Amino acid sequence: MNNDSSIAQIAAILREEAARLGPGSRLPSSREIMRRHNVSPVTVSRALGLLAAEGRVVTKPGAGSFVTQQQVTTGQDAADLSWQTVALGDRVVDDGPVASLLASIPEGVVPLTGGYLHPGLRPDKQLAAAAARAVRRPDAWDKPPLAGLLELRRWFAAQAGGDVTAADALIVSGGQAALTHAFRALAAPGTPVLVETPTYPGALAAAKAAGLRATAVPMDRDGVRPELLAEAFAVTGARVFFCQSTLHNPTGATLPVERREQVLQVARAAGAFVIEDDYARYLTEHAPPSLASMDQHGSVVHLGSLTKILSPSMRVAAVIARGPAAHRLRAGQLVESFFVARPLQETALEFVGSPAWRRHLTTVHAELRTRRDALAAALAARLPEAELHLLPIGGMHLWVRLPADVEENDLAEAARRNRVLVSPGRMYYPSEPPGPRIRVTHIAATHLAELQEGVRRLAQALAEAR
Ligand SMILES: Cc1ncc(COP(=O)(O)O)c(C=O)c1O
Repeated sequence: MNNDSSIAQIAAILREEAARLGPGSRLPSSREIMRRHNVSPVTVSRALGLLAAEGRVVTKPGAGSFVTQQQVTTGQDAADLSWQTVALGDRVVDDGPVASLLASIPEGVVPLTGGYLHPGLRPDKQLAAAAARAVRRPDAWDKPPLAGLLELRRWFAAQAGGDVTAADALIVSGGQAALTHAFRALAAPGTPVLVETPTYPGALAAAKAAGLRATAVPMDRDGVRPELLAEAFAVTGARVFFCQSTLHNPTGATLPVERREQVLQVARAAGAFVIEDDYARYLTEHAPPSLASMDQHGSVVHLGSLTKILSPSMRVAAVIARGPAAHRLRAGQLVESFFVARPLQETALEFVGSPAWRRHLTTVHAELRTRRDALAAALAARLPEAELHLLPIGGMHLWVRLPADVEENDLAEAARRNRVLVSPGRMYYPSEPPGPRIRVTHIAATHLAELQEGVRRLAQALAEAR
């Protein structure tokens, strides 16, 4: 057995064993746990991973797993909640990838990770002013139109381009919610969804939570390969393809216009939807026309979000769709959460309609360019053995190929010791990774000097990990 329920069961057993053995004790070896419970190495390592995440055990490479000194529960005094494992059954939601994206950065650690602007780059003052204007409106606390404020929907529709209209747009609570809504509305549990490989782990987690099976479609430097996409549709029978058309996370690839047309043709021939996650549209001034703007057949469900350019707390995004798909998306959001809070919608609308919006875009674009180039130069100087996948047209990340002998986990561990954080490549792959990779982010550091210090520490970590 190797599924979520077996992982939860083994974790529950190990939790009890850890409590019984006491702080400092060594848990049975992975091999022994596999033998005793007839489970796979993956189940054991994921169960141990759960306990490590709870702070109950630490795993020392080569030495085994040990019960931590400070136990989370106090043994006998703690209520026995293990019945819940049985009652809940096989519905574990894998929040690891998303939790790591949102993790706080410890003092003194350089974040070459994350996915949001450093607070110093956020337009906090202008956002506060927009929020103040928004809540002064007499109807600020009224129920909004259920699909979202008309003007905001009109704005998102114009951003998507082509003949998209406000009637096609639904306001939802951020890009991650948009992903969840789209997966749930467009595909039945148990069916496949095609994804670029590598891809955004939050999308993999959302697809999995919706009961979908992700199948990987290879990319090159111009994004997904249309001939392999066609083959994947044919082989799997999938009716949904999740695609990041611009500034793909993590590789930085942007689909050229011609490739966009090919992708649409392939999806159309397969009778399939394309979920276009346009999360990074505002992180470059060179974004090509969206897939949605080129779509004549209702194939594209387009997701646009304000979080990346403004703040993780500006949880306002739009899902743009037509036909029965749009109806299902609206119904899904209504049943799940009614609508997005009106004051936040009003604030978003105030901000994007003010001169602060354009000014902010100009400032961020310049900063992204400077940081991207500085990071690329620092990597080339300090980690010459690491290879940059491509220099993206904007965005916040660089995707880096490491020499084949580097163990990603060892590097991540060495990086942590050297007080710098990077994102290990493995989590971006729905299936086997082709080799060691890391994603290095430049936008979460305080300033260029910190970015450069982060790369210096990373080079040190790489030397230690080899
Ligand atoms: C590719 C991609 N899509 C969607 C999201 C979700 O972002 P949010 O929910 O903050 O809009 C992220 C966040 O990292 C992302 O990288």
